[in-house]
Amino acid sequence: MNRFLGLLGLWLGSCLAGAAEVPKTLHLTWEGDPCTTMTAQWLRGPGLGDRPEKGKGEEVRWKKAGDPTWQVVRSTSTEFPDPKKMGMPRWSLSRVRWKGLEAGGEYIFQVKDSPEQRFRTAPLEMGKELIFAEGGDANSSSAAEEMLTLACQKNPLFFSLGGDIAYSDGKDVPREIRFWELWQRAGRGTDGRLIPFVAGIGNHEVQGGYWQEGASFEDMKKRAPFFFALFGGLYQRDEPVAMDFGNYLSLLLLDSGHITPMERQTDWLEKNLAARKSVPWVFVSWHIACYPSGRKWNAQPMIGYARKEWIPLIEKSDATAVFNHHDHDMQRVESEGRGGRKVMVFGNGSIGVEPREAVCREAIPMRKAYAQENYVNIVTLREKSVEVVTLGRKGRELDRTELSQRAK
Ligand SMILES: [Fe+2]
Repeated sequence: MNRFLGLLGLWLGSCLAGAAEVPKTLHLTWEGDPCTTMTAQWLRGPGLGDRPEKGKGEEVRWKKAGDPTWQVVRSTSTEFPDPKKMGMPRWSLSRVRWKGLEAGGEYIFQVKDSPEQRFRTAPLEMGKELIFAEGGDANSSSAAEEMLTLACQKNPLFFSLGGDIAYSDGKDVPREIRFWELWQRAGRGTDGRLIPFVAGIGNHEVQGGYWQEGASFEDMKKRAPFFFALFGGLYQRDEPVAMDFGNYLSLLLLDSGHITPMERQTDWLEKNLAARKSVPWVFVSWHIACYPSGRKWNAQPMIGYARKEWIPLIEKSDATAVFNHHDHDMQRVESEGRGGRKVMVFGNGSIGVEPREAVCREAIPMRKAYAQENYVNIVTLREKSVEVVTLGRKGRELDRTELSQRAK
């Protein structure tokens, strides 16, 4: 009898736990000012909980930590693209957008009766120290889960992933979902708070990988249906994105020819670097490594274009450093310096993919650090300097770099 009651208890317990589960693909991202906005989104459908009734959304309670009363919003719900099932998408995307939040504030929210979740907005001032994490080329592998967990356990303000997120190639929804399930588990700080995800685009977000001659922005968006369903709020125009954190940090997120040809972004880069002259920390990120490692020096035209046109502009500016990806190993180089100074380029994207063997002879003499390994960068901003610690599997330190702020 006791055994029967015990089993009944276990069964009831698992039913209740199931009913109150955190949405399996829940993640946070920014579509506007990181100090005052936040977007939470999650998928519903097979394996991910019932899709909300058409036009109804889901109830979400939220409040600033410490406030006595809850506020209630309803999520929006839209069909999630399903290229293999044209006309009858299997999953829907639920989303809540918060605006007018307090900078540096901690917030609590709850989707229906699931466990409470927490997030933090970016502070208006940097303070003594601020950490963010960075990498590229993830995939839904156990290595990716280990590396993303490792990075988020350093309690970064956000994780910036510079393209090749799920390797779903804009076609494979179950593969895309597997990544967001992985990130929901991995993307949490030591106190359980959700770490916002800042997405960059890579070839594996796009059907065919690259901009097609003559294609418009609208045409190309259709070729990257998951990326634009999830992050189209940030990438609204046919140009790169600048994400500004107060007046202390800016990320310039460029596209190495996946949706928009690189030539169209060069003027934008020059103008946006100039506009941020007074910002102490400016990082420029794109997917295809301009100093290759796992590929030859000119294996793709985008490699040479970035090296000839983008790097000299960054060298001429006061930008802090560059993040590159795509070649699946850890390589840090100093640029050639044709723009008047050398700039540090952290690459080449290997969060959870199989690390490749280096084949680029020209990059070898430029290397400041190299490892055929998975890695994440933990970037610590301080008042006068920035430290980039590159961690490999099991948290092993692969590299450590200190950069100082340029005199303004
Ligand atoms: Fe790639």
